[in-house]
Amino acid sequence: WGILFSHPRDFTPVCTTELGRAAKLAPEFSKRNVKMIALSIDSVQDHLSWSKDINAYNGEQPEEKLPFPIIADANRELAVKLGMLDPDERDKDGMPLTARVVFVFGPDKKLKLSILYPATTGRNFDEILRVVDSLQLTAYKKVATPVDWKPGDSVMVVPTLPDEEAKKLFPKGVFTKDLPSGKKYLRYTPQP
Ligand code: BEZ
Repeated sequence: WGILFSHPRDFTPVCTTELGRAAKLAPEFSKRNVKMIALSIDSVQDHLSWSKDINAYNGEQPEEKLPFPIIADANRELAVKLGMLDPDERDKDGMPLTARVVFVFGPDKKLKLSILYPATTGRNFDEILRVVDSLQLTAYKKVATPVDWKPGDSVMVVPTLPDEEAKKLFPKGVFTKDLPSGKKYLRYTPQP
């Protein structure tokens, strides 16, 4: 699994808080077997110098090292190719900045999730870990996660699975909620 998250620019306030949080959560991503990589449209030298600020923001030694690499996309080549440029945010020279894009890839190297935030809204990395948990669970089990699901909550049996197969596949039980339509499509099971 892999996650690529882009940033508008080095040495900007929201980005610094986001990368600080991402660095603190690196063990959580590692536990889930997710490799992390960031992208910002500045040079390697800037990234190294900014990394010191990020570590200091986290209350740690101002070292150049972070637990993940930052791609130096100084010519915006990748940002253009991957549709990451924010149409509204520009730098002082009028050049477009990168938006806050999150791409999660599966072990098959295919895109499993993409979320796009504008430069002015920082991401919630707890939510990103939550979607990774859902993506990984639903990749391997015939379940889907309902609204506001958290790891450990009940999940839904996917609509395409016949009742008889669901009973066999989920020995902890399948619980259906009655609805006015009489259609028994709300099928819950404890998280497998
Ligand atoms: C920031 O990271 O603080 C930021 C970057 C670009 C536009 C607005 C905020």
